Parts: sequence; structure tokens; C-alpha cells
Amino acid sequence: MSKNPITIFRKTWGTYQKVISHNLMYHREITAAVATLLKSRPSSLRLLDLGCGDASHVSKILKPGQLAEYCGCDLSPYALDVARINLEPFGSPVTMICRDMLAVLREAPANHFDIVYSSYALHHLNTDDKQTFFTESRRVLRENGGIILVDVMRDEGQERPEYLDGYNGTVRVEWDVLTRDERDKVQKHIRNCDFPESPSTLRKLARNAGFKNCRKLEKRTWHEAWCFEA
Ligand SMILES: C[S@@+](CC[C@H](N)C(=O)[O-])C[C@H]1O[C@@H](n2cnc3c(N)ncnc32)[C@H](O)[C@@H]1O
Repeated sequence: MSKNPITIFRKTWGTYQKVISHNLMYHREITAAVATLLKSRPSSLRLLDLGCGDASHVSKILKPGQLAEYCGCDLSPYALDVARINLEPFGSPVTMICRDMLAVLREAPANHFDIVYSSYALHHLNTDDKQTFFTESRRVLRENGGIILVDVMRDEGQERPEYLDGYNGTVRVEWDVLTRDERDKVQKHIRNCDFPESPSTLRKLARNAGFKNCRKLEKRTWHEAWCFEA
């Protein structure tokens, strides 16, 4: 795994904000699917958001009265500054931690959260660390709690080099709202820092951790949303 998977996010949050606002990673469809799922949940949720970025998705998946507590962590202080502003309207207790997501997860209290949410961050971890993510998430979740995982995923049977060529080809050709320099940096980041798994591998890791109910919520090209419940 790359030593610093967040150089692109640490230097400036601007490029990624463009990616979100032009829906290049299908945030719109993915957050709509997650919002539909969460409508059926009790009204007062405690949410742990790992690799939360600017937390701009939270206002799209939850209504103000639905959030009892929010704990977000990210390695990018720029993103967390924006996240604080985005969460103000909720008026709920908010904790923002600028720290590695597994360190935060390991120290989180047991049986505390209703939702462990992670969006487009898990693919930066190696497979063993992804297993730790599922195992520790199971520990911190309350009964009836669940993981909502949004991430890039390889197609079944697709090896990483093939995935990288495909994804970067899309960035090169279709992400033309970014400048050429931005596109080059994004492709370099993907080549050095992205280690997506296939859905079947993620399901296996989740089952190892005791999650029996694994459901796909949305899929747009390599961008998927899944829910894992015990
Ligand atoms: C592609 S952005 C996703 C941000 C947001 N969750 C979203 O869906 O728009 C990935 C985020 O993960 C963060 N990140 C990467 N590795 C991390 C780690 N080990 N611990 C905490 N955050 C991490 C980066 O700083 C970045 O903000």
C-alpha cells in the first residue's frame, strides 16, 4: 500500500470537490440509495463516518432530526474544516478526528453506533486492514446496527492492473471538467493508492466478521453501495 494515500486530498480539497459536484463518482445516485435505506431506520442514529472527507453526503442521506450523534474521521484537515461547516445545520453533537480510520475504529466504544459509514475510503487499505475494518465495525455496532459501505470495486475476476487501466481510461477521456493537470494527478493517485476488492471478497471479509446479511444498494460502473448487517 502507498505510504501516503491522501496527498491529493491533503494538498487541496478543490479537485475532489469538482469530482463530487459534477457527479463523476455517482455520489448523487449512491446517496439517494442510501437515503432510501435509512428512511426505514429509527429516527435517532449514532453514526461513525470513516474517511468522511467534507461530509457533504450526510445532509443528503439524513434529515436533521435523524442524527443523534456524528463522529467523523479523516486524515485531511482541509476536508474536516469543510465537514464542520456542512454539519452545522444538524445541530447534533459532532466529533471530528484528524486521524487514521482504523486507529479511530479500534478506540471507539463497543456497542455504541447504529451505522458505520464509509464512502470511497476503504479501497485505500490493504486486504488485512479491510478485514480489521469489518471486525472492529462489528464490535462498535449496536444490535440491529449495520455497515454502509460505498466504494469502488473491481468486477468479479478483474485483476487490479485491468481495473486501473479501465478506471484511468475513464478519467482521461470522460472527466474533462478537470484540467489536464488535475486529471494527471488523479490518475497517479489511483495507480499508487487504490486497492479495490471485488464485491465477493468484501462479502467474505464481512462474513468472517459475523455479518450474515450483505445487500447491494446501488451500482454505477465500479461505484457500489452495500449494506452489511449481522
Ligand atoms: C475519495 S475521498 C472520500 C470522501 C467522502 N467520504 C466521500 O465519499 O466523498 C477519500 C477520503 O478518505 C480519506 N482517507 C484515506 N485514507 C484514510 C485513512 N487511513 N484514515 C482516514 N481517512 C483516510 C482521505 O483523506 C479522503 O478524504
